[in-house]
Amino acid sequence: MNRIAVVPGSFDPVTLGHLDVIGRAAGLFDQLHVLVVHNPDKSALLPIAKRVSLIEQAIAEAGLPGNILVTSWSVGLLVDYCTDVGATVLIKGIRSQVDVAYETPMAIVNRNLAGVETIFMLPDPAHAHVSSSLVRQVSSLGGDVAPYVPRVVADYLQSVS
Ligand code: PNS
Repeated sequence: MNRIAVVPGSFDPVTLGHLDVIGRAAGLFDQLHVLVVHNPDKSALLPIAKRVSLIEQAIAEAGLPGNILVTSWSVGLLVDYCTDVGATVLIKGIRSQVDVAYETPMAIVNRNLAGVETIFMLPDPAHAHVSSSLVRQVSSLGGDVAPYVPRVVADYLQSVS
């Protein structure tokens, strides 16, 4: 059986915490789709295409396996994408109980909508404090984000600041 999982998120920008979860999940499934989704609740820093490109470069830079596809989705429900590509599992990185509280209702709704299961994965605790919103804030105020993001992301944010 060809097991396909999806790691959805805003990835604005991708962090070392995201990359850690992507690498762990890629080892558990035949195919892993990293799906950049527009989140209307957040004001975006990077265009979707740039986020996709930075994730692809970060995956190559980290030497992650070749079973990872990076793409984006902007129309309809997340589970519609899963159904379209035959994915049965969503992967969410969990840093704290706050993430559990935020993700649990979405996991139940996604299962009710389309039978898509959600698996919560724990990143390396070294990344537990890292979030894209923190990176956006530090970067916008001129701080060094290199400890929190892949090198390509740090270089890009440096180049546009
Ligand atoms: O990185 P983020 O911003 O926390 O990711 C949130 C995201 C994009 C995964 C979430 O907003 C989402 O699942 N959006 C898809 C919209 C959807 O299908 N909603 C209904 C079921 S919860």
